[in-house]
Amino acid sequence: MKSTTTYICKSCAYESPKWIGKCPSCNNWNTFEEKKNIPKKQQKRMQGIAKKAAPLTFQNTSEQRYKTNISELDNVLGGGFIKDSLVLLSGEPGIGKSTLTLQICEKIASLNKKVLYISGEESPTQISNRASRLGIQNELITIISENSLENIIATLNQEEPDFIIIDSIQVISSESANSLTGSISQVRLATEVLMEFAKKNNKAMLVIGHVTKEGNLAGPRTLEHLVDVVIHLEGERYQNLRLLRGIKNRFGPTSEVGIFEMTQNGLTEVKNPSEKFLEDRKENSIGSILTVTLQGNRPFIIEVQALTNTTVFGYPKRTASGFDVNRLNLLIAVIQKYTGINLTNQDIYVNVIGGIRINEPAADLAVILAILSSYNQKPLPSNYVAIGEVGLSGEIRKTTQMAKRQKEVEKMDLILKSYINSNNIKDLSKIL
Ligand code: TYD
Ligand code: MG
Repeated sequence: MKSTTTYICKSCAYESPKWIGKCPSCNNWNTFEEKKNIPKKQQKRMQGIAKKAAPLTFQNTSEQRYKTNISELDNVLGGGFIKDSLVLLSGEPGIGKSTLTLQICEKIASLNKKVLYISGEESPTQISNRASRLGIQNELITIISENSLENIIATLNQEEPDFIIIDSIQVISSESANSLTGSISQVRLATEVLMEFAKKNNKAMLVIGHVTKEGNLAGPRTLEHLVDVVIHLEGERYQNLRLLRGIKNRFGPTSEVGIFEMTQNGLTEVKNPSEKFLEDRKENSIGSILTVTLQGNRPFIIEVQALTNTTVFGYPKRTASGFDVNRLNLLIAVIQKYTGINLTNQDIYVNVIGGIRINEPAADLAVILAILSSYNQKPLPSNYVAIGEVGLSGEIRKTTQMAKRQKEVEKMDLILKSYINSNNIKDLSKIL
């Protein structure tokens, strides 16, 4: 009997009967990996054992949770870590996953629970050094440095910790999977085995997984459907702000976002982000305006800046940080068409302050106003907050969750400007 082989994309799990260089689904190169299928004849015949079905009961999950009392985190988790579940913490390398995790360890240990930190990346000395820099010390936290899945399971059976950390899933491998460490089959196998351990033994487990910006490092994206909860830590590496997003949650909502700041003492919670962003804002600056963005359910006020400059050579440059550059090009086209301003010889740079990424059209109006302000060299009132989606015929539209945004603006004692009544961006030239 011939065994069949399929090829699976490490990035998006697309399957192909033959090896291909470029994935037709996610367009990444060299992501295919061999996966042996067991021939039908060798597969066991379907002989299951009937199970007794249990009635649907109301569960009070609060008793089964470990609350960390880091409320920005607890909210994202839906109330804390669940005892027989596996949480995947994903994020780019260097973003602060291990730092946050150590802080979590301390909180769980302070609940009088045994914590085991399994690191395949750093030595116990390195972790201890970081812990002492963070001022973390608790006898209930133990550390081992281990990469072998078999050794990890044996250690877990012996040590019987309540809370388990795996840092990171990409460096764990098993002898039974015939492929390289970090490959999709190793990462999947390790996750499945660890998950089964957590469920059988009623343990809470936090597994760290590295992802690149595009999400195509072997693992986490394809693990999302295996695990119970996925939380994602993001931010610009050289800026301090970090957002913790709920991506998937079998036990709670996924719309929550936790906000942190990377400081010398690790990640600290940011309770009022608007205040933080307004802290060092200059009065009367040219090419700058505020807007309200919604991250998860949380509205907060941030500054959008633009700079226009006459192009010296070649094509005009259009660069955006924290904003989609295609959307920027579209808005520039709309400005040109409806205000008559010629931007074809202007380099245009747009920057969202604080390392935040705005993915919603609500910021269109702010971007346009910032560009016009820079182009005309005229400042806008520094207490104006612009919100509005701009359409292809230059019309200014209302955006979602206006009431929530309005409330945040009022809370910060600012003035909401949506210019909905002016209806078209050509009227904006009057105010600039
Ligand atoms: P780390 O948690 O190691 O990232 P990850 O596990 O996601 O790869 O964080 C690394 C960065 O965080 C490193 O550049 C230093 C910085 N950092 C601080 O700014 N403050 C701190 O207290 C700590 C521990 C790290
Ligand atoms: Mg790390």
